Amino acid sequence: MQVFRHIESLREALKVERQSGQSIGFVPTMGNLHQGHLALVSQAKAHSDVVVASIFVNRLQFGLNEDWDQYPRTFNDDCQKLIDTGCDYLFFPEEKEIYPNGMDGQTRVIVPSMTDMLCGASRPGHFEGVTTVVSKLFNIVQPDIAVFGLKDYQQIAVIRRMVADLCMPVTVMAGDIVRENDGLAMSSRNSFISKGERPFANQLHKTLCWIKQQIEAGSQAYLSLEQQGQEQIVEAGFRVDYLQVCSSDTLTPAARDDTNITILGAMYTQSARLIDNVSLVLEVPIQTTTV
Ligand code: PAJ
Repeated sequence: MQVFRHIESLREALKVERQSGQSIGFVPTMGNLHQGHLALVSQAKAHSDVVVASIFVNRLQFGLNEDWDQYPRTFNDDCQKLIDTGCDYLFFPEEKEIYPNGMDGQTRVIVPSMTDMLCGASRPGHFEGVTTVVSKLFNIVQPDIAVFGLKDYQQIAVIRRMVADLCMPVTVMAGDIVRENDGLAMSSRNSFISKGERPFANQLHKTLCWIKQQIEAGSQAYLSLEQQGQEQIVEAGFRVDYLQVCSSDTLTPAARDDTNITILGAMYTQSARLIDNVSLVLEVPIQTTTV
């Protein structure tokens, strides 16, 4: 695996690949890689000739009081994992490579829909930081496909919208959520969960699955399910950020006739904010006509 710290040298290498007819798959990350990230690399490899990963802890998408400075940085381990997974190129830029003129004057990419609810409501500016850096990375790598994880369901929805709205020539693919044995979605932030809280940290996933079961069993009392779900999380000792039954396509609260449903949640442990979601497809009731 070749590691590049500069845009120009990465572009040169990828130009050669492209000229020899190789398709390029891309997996952007912030590092501290786990099986969730590596599954995306494998997926990119299965759908393209060469795979580029990036590691960049993008300060622009962190709020002022968030954990940018504490975000785990494990470059050597990450490199080994990427090599073992068959990644071909790693882009690992310094901040001044991505934001040479600082962040204040940086041109921004803003997706107005789907960014002020759910995670966007509790993390103002977050998605603007994500779409801005992902646009820059897309322009640097110019991938044929880019793979994002469904763990960040809202993120991939926003990125898909950006790609469509700006006619970006890249196919966005989604990777399934990779979980620990007890259901906790893998996350770089799981290392912040205290030993004492860890056995209960799968509560968010348990609650999401419970709501899903209730809906599959016929309940459409979404507000009441959200309320009961919040109580479960609080009883387990955590603070709820949001818990919402949504339309999978628009991420607005699910209506009675929505058949594609995603239940999204975020909760705070003592020192980590965790997010998760589960999706379901309801069967459309069979229309019968009597003659
Ligand atoms: P990061 O949190 O490092 O995640 C990188 C990619 O891995 C994202 O597409 C995310 O959805 C995916 N991912 C994380 N945990 C996963 C899991 N348990 N199962 C499946 N996929 C998982 O998301 C970001 O970085 C940043 O916002 C980024 C897109 C790189 C822009 O800075």
